[in-house]
Parts: sequence; structure tokens; C-alpha cells
Amino acid sequence: MDKNFYITTPIYYPSAKPHMGHAYSSIIADFFARFKKIDGFNVHFLTGTDEHGLKIQRAAEKKGVDPLKFCDEISKTFRDLSKILNLSNNDFIRTTEKRHSLSVQSLWKELEKNDDIYLSKYSGWYSVSDEAFYSDDELEEIDGKKRSISSKSLVEWVDEESYFFRLSKWEKPLLDHYKNNPNFISPLSRKNEVISFVKSGLNDLSVSRKSFTWGIPVPNNNEHVIYVWLDALTNYISALNYPEINDSMYKNFWPASIHLIGKDILRFHAVYWPAFLLAAKLPLPKRVYGHGWILAGDEKMSKSKGNILDPIEIINQYGLDPLRYYLIKEVSFGNDGNISKERLEDCINSDLANNYGNLCQRVTAFTIKNCAGKIPNKIKFEDDDLKILNKFSLNLDIIRNKIDNQDINFYIDFIVNILFDTNKYFNDQEPWKKKDDIVRLNTIIYTALEIIRKITVMLYPIIPNSTLNALKIFSIKEKDIDFSSIDNHNYLKGNNKINKIDILFKKIEKNND
Ligand code: MSP
Repeated sequence: MDKNFYITTPIYYPSAKPHMGHAYSSIIADFFARFKKIDGFNVHFLTGTDEHGLKIQRAAEKKGVDPLKFCDEISKTFRDLSKILNLSNNDFIRTTEKRHSLSVQSLWKELEKNDDIYLSKYSGWYSVSDEAFYSDDELEEIDGKKRSISSKSLVEWVDEESYFFRLSKWEKPLLDHYKNNPNFISPLSRKNEVISFVKSGLNDLSVSRKSFTWGIPVPNNNEHVIYVWLDALTNYISALNYPEINDSMYKNFWPASIHLIGKDILRFHAVYWPAFLLAAKLPLPKRVYGHGWILAGDEKMSKSKGNILDPIEIINQYGLDPLRYYLIKEVSFGNDGNISKERLEDCINSDLANNYGNLCQRVTAFTIKNCAGKIPNKIKFEDDDLKILNKFSLNLDIIRNKIDNQDINFYIDFIVNILFDTNKYFNDQEPWKKKDDIVRLNTIIYTALEIIRKITVMLYPIIPNSTLNALKIFSIKEKDIDFSSIDNHNYLKGNNKINKIDILFKKIEKNND
């Protein structure tokens, strides 16, 4: 079994500082990366910034600064955000790095060598905001201005010499690939829109621009810069040292296990990128997952709409882990989701502070008082204990399988339900009334501690910092967190010390007026 796992986020445009939509993509990718890591995989997790193209050039011009300087500054805010979000990424790529431009130019030469690139002229519509070409039937006119129907962004007319990629040639191979690899485009609900786009006929794609300079020059013709999407998509392999296909990074991690992206950029990842790779005779990523949007009101959150929720503000107010938990739980993965501070506060109070944090505190305090601060030994599981413990073992492979199908909703529901069951178990068992039956008292305490440990392991990919604090109860370190250990009901060793921990989540005072 392949124990390497390579996951990527989209690389973000540093045209403005990051917002909640960007944070969302990154947090979800981090969840998968951390889960795979604690499940024994050798994980490579890549994120970064997409710095070329007209959109960035114009944003820099507007500020009156050199585009690279402009990118340096904003790219840093994305890099800082990845730290603030506690991402476990192994690399952060910038498309203005030398390693990247060399790689893009190599891919270009490969496409040219295989006769997939030719010089001609592009006349048509272009959206700078999306960095995308649109045909007439993808546009609508609002107040006399042409806009993309899907993104609502403005388009402008382009008429210039351009290199083209023979996308039309790859129509049938792409359709075959979708057919032979039914999960290549996920979730399945998004697959059909891609297939019908491809079936409607693919035109060759303009892959260079001549009227501006902020990009990677076309090899042997530096009057042209390479189309920013061909440039950007290549980040997934330039970060693995392509064209060095014998390099261990490339060998271990290509093809990617999953490109996690927003649904708005599915066409680029599920049509153009695989076509470029097919043309270069390189393997295709195993999966492209297009998640939904974070909405503010009913609209996609975006700079141009001015409805941005700043992740840093929310983190300063509520803390990082509550935000991570909230986004993972409340935005049904794969669909669009509305977010609000009110729901975030409910999540903190009920799920994190009450159901999880309070359970940890309560059971720890009870153990300290009644078992001299040690994990009890002399235990004998009964049906009530095994019923709840076995839920973990019975679901171990199901959970793995759900994660491999990006079913985060199953994962979080499992945790929420078992937290409820555990609180109920502790109340129903009434250990405080069992002081005359030491074996039963010990067993209830041990069972509750074991369940807390297992839940904490499962919560780790969602709320890493808080779970590391919780694991101090058992003196378990990050490097020792192992998903498969939730199968072991005797993991905790009798007589080992139980440590008191600080409160994990503070309740938010709610004003109910
Ligand atoms: N630079 C391109 C991606 C190139 S990948 C080779 C790009 N950048 S972006 O900064 O505009 O957006 C990147 C991603 O951010 C989107 O695909 C999506 O994953 C995420 N989001 C941006 N706004 C979003 C929401 N409002 N909600 C959820 N995610 C969205 O596109």
C-alpha cells in the first residue's frame, strides 16, 4: 500500500490580504494532512501564492509599486496566516521563485516538443479577475457591461498574437479518464458540470500573453509571458522538483493524492491541468476535490464584493481552534456554508466548552480525587463500558474509508455523537456512588479516560493545539499520537500519573436580549 500522501491547497493570489475563504481551504487541507500523518502516512502538504498575471500586475500598478515588491509583501501575509492557522504544511511555494519558473519553462518545452503548442492569434473575452477566457455563451450583459455568468466578474476584449495549447485534442482522453476514474472529480455532484463542459467541445486554449510582462517568459520568445494558469498549476510539480522525475520528492509524491480547491476553480484543475499533464505524458493527480464557498449573507465572500470576514480578527476574538472546529463542523463539506459569529459562539459553548472541555476537566478531577491522581489498574470491563469503547474499534476502518472519500461530515458527526454518549455514560454510571465497589469505580474511571483519549486523538486534526493540551492529562506527546491506537482499549497504563490541566475552552457570555 502506498504510504505517501500528497495534498495541496490552491495557491492564493496575493492581490489582497487573505480572507475567510482562503483560511477555509487551508484549514480543511490541514485537517486531511494531520489525519493522514497520525494514521502513519508520509505526508507532504503544499500551499503557497500565485503571483503572476495581469490581475497582480494591475494591483501593483494601482499601488504604484513594483509587482515583485508588491507580491513579497502580500505573499508574506499568506505565509504568516499559515502559521496563525497552525498549518502543518511542509512547503510554501511562490510562483516568483526560480525553482518554479524553471519548472514551468520545462513543462512548456515538453508540450512544445510533443506538438501541443502552436502560435496563432487570440480574439475574445478575458476576465482579469478570474484570469480566465470566456466564450460568448458564458457571458451576460448587466448595465451595458459584459460579465461572466458564473463568477459575475467583468470581461474585457483581447486581440493579440498568442500561443495556443491543443486542448481540443484531449477531449476524448479526458472523458475516458473521468469514466475510468469515477472519483477523479469529487464530490460527485460537481463531476457532471465538468463532463458536460468537456462534452460540449473543447477549444484550443490561449496559453501566452503579449500585452503585459508580469509572468514567466515563453522559452525562446520573450515577447510572450506564459498564461498564468499554466504557470500556477505547475506549482504542484515544481514544488517536487519537476523536471527531475528521478528526484525522491517527485518519485514519492507525484501523482498527488488530492488537490483540494474551491469549486470556482474546478475547470482549471479538472480539465486544463489534466490535459497539460496528459500532453506532457505525466501521471494525473488521483483526485480533485472542489469544496463549496463560505458565504456572507447569500453571497460568496470576496474582496470585490466587499463582504470579507477577516480570519485574524475572529481568531483574536475567539481563538484559533474554535474557528477551525467551527468551519469544519458547521460548513457541510462539499456545500456552500453561511457563517456567523452567533453560530460560532454556540459551537464554542456547547460542543467545545461543555461537551468536550468540561468532560476532560470533570473526569480528570474525579480521577485525581478518587484514584490518587493515577490511572486505575484492577479493572474489569462490563457490557456498558465495552458498548461505547467498541464504537471506536468497529468504526476504525469505516472512518479511514470516509476520510479517503473526504466525508468530513461523517467524521465530525461521529465525534459529536460519541461525546454525547460519553457524557451520558459518566452520568448514568454514577461513579461517585460506587466507592464501595473499587473494581467498578476503577473501571468506569478507566473507561472514561480511555474514551477521552480516543476522542482527543480524533479531534487532533481539527483542533491540534487544544488537543495537545488535553493530552497532557496522560503525558502523551504529539509524536506519539496514533490514529490506530483508538482500537486499543488498554492503551493507558495503570499507575501512570494523571495531570490536571488548565481549562480548555472558555465559555462565551451571550447577550440574549
Ligand atoms: N490563484 C488561483 C488558484 C491557483 S491554484 C493553481 C486562485 N486564487 S484565489 O486566491 O482567488 O482563491 C483560491 C481559493 O480560495 C479558491 O479556490 C477557494 O479554494 C478559496 N476561496 C476563495 N474565496 C472563497 C470563499 N468565499 N469560500 C471558500 N473558499 C473560497 O483562484
